[in-house]
Amino acid sequence: MPNQKTQVGIVGAGPAGLLLGHLLHINGVDSVIVENRSREYVIDRVRAGVLEQGTVDLLHAAGVGARLKREGLRHEGLYISFQGARHHIDFADLTGGKAITVYGQNEVVRDLIDARLTTSRPLFFDAKDVAISGMNSSTPTIRFRHGDADHQVQCDFIAGCDGFHGICRPSIPDGVLTIYERVYPFGWLGILAEAAPSSDELVYTYHERGFALFSMRSPRVTRLYLQVPPDEPIENWSDEAIWTEMLERMTTRDGWRPNVGHIVQKSVTPMRSFVATPMRHDRLFLAGDAAHIVPPTGAKGLNLAASDVLVLARAMKDFYACGRTKWLDQYSNVCARRVWKAQRFSWWMTSTLHRSPDETAFDHQRQIADLDYLTSSRAAMTSLAEQYVGLPAEVSFESAGLSGP
Ligand code: FAD
Ligand code: DHB
Repeated sequence: MPNQKTQVGIVGAGPAGLLLGHLLHINGVDSVIVENRSREYVIDRVRAGVLEQGTVDLLHAAGVGARLKREGLRHEGLYISFQGARHHIDFADLTGGKAITVYGQNEVVRDLIDARLTTSRPLFFDAKDVAISGMNSSTPTIRFRHGDADHQVQCDFIAGCDGFHGICRPSIPDGVLTIYERVYPFGWLGILAEAAPSSDELVYTYHERGFALFSMRSPRVTRLYLQVPPDEPIENWSDEAIWTEMLERMTTRDGWRPNVGHIVQKSVTPMRSFVATPMRHDRLFLAGDAAHIVPPTGAKGLNLAASDVLVLARAMKDFYACGRTKWLDQYSNVCARRVWKAQRFSWWMTSTLHRSPDETAFDHQRQIADLDYLTSSRAAMTSLAEQYVGLPAEVSFESAGLSGP
């Protein structure tokens, strides 16, 4: 049985696991990353697209921002659309020049995998039967099967970066975690289409028939979402039916509408808010979707994963540099403050912009009033803008061993 020792064993090669591995590498801390899917699957998985200013700065500071700088689409605002009209929210003006960048999560993952391979530190794809044990011992262990061999990695710490459906969180004994959860009575049908974006910025639409979102991936590819029932089979939606519904919800009175093109990918995602605390149990640290999920409306999930691992990298750097456990002990508390603010924002964006099956006429009028206030008050627009571009980081880049942005 191949036995290995490392400082930090990382379960999951999504954005959280790969970025953590890279931040540790920069600080001379060794890690082994174990992923149960193939490299192709991880790179091709279409998910998030909006990077906060702080996430962009972090990727640059970590030296993995070259392609992001070339290919990322900087957006200094977005549109909120309701009752047939689009209303602009100008981030740059409202936040003193901040912006978001549209760059596919799969591109971030591709860049981080390339960076990892350059370091020659271990990264296993296609690992089978991944399991962790010994979290309360001095050598917590990751076991898995790779090819024909059984592997065992003895670690100082394990980072559970294996997403919402991973094995790390369920490995924590019953009674340790407090779970906070809200499941929404709708999901998102998302498509990628070969069509030039018809707007330079995202358009979040509240419509009588439900929410719709216009986004993009490149000057030739549009990304669109539709509110649908949470368990909606994608087979129910022909390409023609998708376009009819998109155009119905998104076309505004001034004639703006998305360009129609060949649909290259489509899927339905359910929506939930979920937090498990504490994000640490003995020598296991949970980061990203393994610890919390937000509904995608605020575009916060990937960004929260990045901010968690920045906090964790700072704590581990400090431990290996001077044996101090203070920041490891504080990890969950430091992360939770940001997590809850992102939860609140994502819940608010979701409940303001979606139609709920059990809503009353009162709820509907309140939503319209909320959107009217949002798009006519500078104070309300500033509040949205500062949360959408991202609240300030919990820890400085320097404290995590990175040079400033
Ligand atoms: P994941 O990306 O889920 O990575 C976990 C990894 O662990 C995966 O590679 C998985 O295969 C692996 N794994 C799972 N189980 C095991 C196991 N047993 N052993 C080993 N490996 C395992 N966020 C944003 O910030 N902005 C957006 O615009 C946005 N839009 C979104 C749109 C959609 C439709 C969806 C679904 C999500 C969106 N998100 C967005 C959320 C974002 O995609 C997630 O929050 C992000 O992927 C979290 O990263 P992670 O590394 O924590 O988890
Ligand atoms: C995208 C996803 C989101 O969840 C969001 O709020 C905005 C944009 C996207 O995939 O482009």
